Amino acid sequence: MAEKGGKVAQLHIGDLCIELPILSGNEGPDVIDVSNLAAQGYFTYDPGFVSTAACDSNVTYIDGDKGILLHRGYPIEQLAEHSDYLELCYLLLNGDLPTADEKTRFVNTIKHHTMVHEQLSQFFKGFRRDAHPMAIMCGVTGALSAFYHDSLDIDNWDHRRITAHRLIAKMPTLAAMSYKYSQGEPFIYPRNDLDYAENFLHMMFATPCENYEVNPIIAKAMDRIFLLHADHEQNASTSTVRLAGSTGANPFACIAAGIAALWGPAHGGANEAVLNMLAEIGDEKNIGKYLKKAKDKNDPFRIMGFGHRVYKNYDPRAKVMQQTCREVLDELGVRDDPILQLAQKLEKIALEDEYFIEKKLYPNVDFYSGIILKAIGIPTEMFTVIFATGRTPGWITHWNEMISGPYKIGRPRQLYKGPSRRDYVPIEDR
Ligand code: ACO
Repeated sequence: MAEKGGKVAQLHIGDLCIELPILSGNEGPDVIDVSNLAAQGYFTYDPGFVSTAACDSNVTYIDGDKGILLHRGYPIEQLAEHSDYLELCYLLLNGDLPTADEKTRFVNTIKHHTMVHEQLSQFFKGFRRDAHPMAIMCGVTGALSAFYHDSLDIDNWDHRRITAHRLIAKMPTLAAMSYKYSQGEPFIYPRNDLDYAENFLHMMFATPCENYEVNPIIAKAMDRIFLLHADHEQNASTSTVRLAGSTGANPFACIAAGIAALWGPAHGGANEAVLNMLAEIGDEKNIGKYLKKAKDKNDPFRIMGFGHRVYKNYDPRAKVMQQTCREVLDELGVRDDPILQLAQKLEKIALEDEYFIEKKLYPNVDFYSGIILKAIGIPTEMFTVIFATGRTPGWITHWNEMISGPYKIGRPRQLYKGPSRRDYVPIEDR
């Protein structure tokens, strides 16, 4: 058993006593350094990495019990109120908030990288029109590595910086293209006179025949959705990006791996799953039946958009998102949309339910982002794509942080439970 004692923990196994250093960060629990345990003939066992810190990081801090989320030290609530998505991208990438000049230059740089190579549009045509846009995003983001041979040296700081800018700038363009393709509509080019969120809405909803008038409340909500998804320390997709990157793989390939990991319904796919679940519940009168299913251990059904691995208190992003949700619903006058009403009813009932209170299951950011995106008119298949677009600066910042310092290839161990050595039996003797 490891006991904290000063800066060293002692692990007693029979007569053996192994001393394990205890490391302290600036915030959060101390960590026991078990990296030398393998040399003593032992591995640690922690499926799901519930108790394992896999790296040092200076980017984001979460206290899930207190509902705290800090990016480079700044609380998410302050960033959501006073900042904007591109400023947060700069903060994540560079470690400090930009001066006015730095911000202008950064915004300008991002704006001038929003177009994708014309040849890339050919890739889309290889997909069926009904392909899931996340499938397209995995493919076309990975394919970017075939276009930027000039910046693939991961040991070159300038290459890493230009790649980060390209990814942040091009993700909304690729996201909107994947939507346009599914609609059978022509791709809409980005416009440099619009800001980041406005430009995304323009590429989604304008057509060559008709301009799209960007509603400032919708654009602000879109910017907030990107901002609130920008980073979340070592979540499954970010850890995937780090793991892929630890092999020396190029950053576009690593981000494609992150997009694939994000797709699952337990992670970024939850916002889409929320809307699918609401459609399945269908009517307020069925909420009780579905809550019963969610509580039944033998039933895999869960209330999507509730619960979080880290937050055992209100997700601070969900609070901001809830407020934005109300603003958008009021602006669009869609408060009486039956699905949105059902969502609000479900939220209220679940928050008062003993099971959800006892297990500390609160609505997470995906619960409200799904509702906002539906109200804006974005189809459910695009929800996770929007999450991926918002999360790109987080992924690339973590990748860059790892590549900039000493790092080892990520190579977990296992507890092997398969057959022991046995001899091959010729097929006629089996
Ligand atoms: N509905 C019903 N019960 C739930 C839910 C839920 N949404 N979430 C957790 N529980 C229950 C579990 O059954 C478990 O019960 P038990 O203690 O009786 O076994 C207990 O609460 C703890 O849940 P775990 O799955 O062990 O918690 P974990 O930290 O592994 O999972 C997760 C977190 C995956 C997010 C889970 O809450 C979930 O599946 N939620 C629904 C999907 C979702 O909204 N995902 C989005 C995550 S946020 C994001 O990616 C931005």
